[in-house]
Amino acid sequence: MELEEGLAENATLEDVKAFVEGLMEGERNRVATLANISAILNQYLPKINWVGFYLVVPEKKMLVLGPFQGSAACTRIRFGEGVVGQAAQRAHTLVVDNVMAFPGHIACDSRSRSEIVVPVHSGGEVVAALDVDAPEMDRFHDAEKVFLETVSRLLGENWNLMTDC
Ligand code: SME
Repeated sequence: MELEEGLAENATLEDVKAFVEGLMEGERNRVATLANISAILNQYLPKINWVGFYLVVPEKKMLVLGPFQGSAACTRIRFGEGVVGQAAQRAHTLVVDNVMAFPGHIACDSRSRSEIVVPVHSGGEVVAALDVDAPEMDRFHDAEKVFLETVSRLLGENWNLMTDC
């Protein structure tokens, strides 16, 4: 699938994966790539209200807001704080069926009711977190987890090839 073709509304998970891979082959700039991946995920995943990236600042044990689609969001989250900070600290995916019941949940968008956060690993470290929020409870299941972990793995494998210029 060519980048110029955009993403069909009935695209399969395989199409989306191919599209993400194509994006990373065609462009090395990290912000541009993450921005387009968040746009693709927003286009592909129904019933969500926010999707985007938080980027790890290792020396500060903190994540800072990266490219996203949705309402303006909290800009900095410490490791261990909220769903994002806990997923980054534990270095594994967190699926939260009901954000109201998650101790320490950070309510950036008051519409959010469920959430999934998938860490991006590179060189044995967590370098970013992919965060998706939904306005309904219990939105994220195994299919979404597997899919988003695949996107995260692809990104992690290419992380050090990406540049700031
Ligand atoms: N809810 C997240 C904060 C980020 S927003 O959802 C975009 C959390 O608890 O870490």
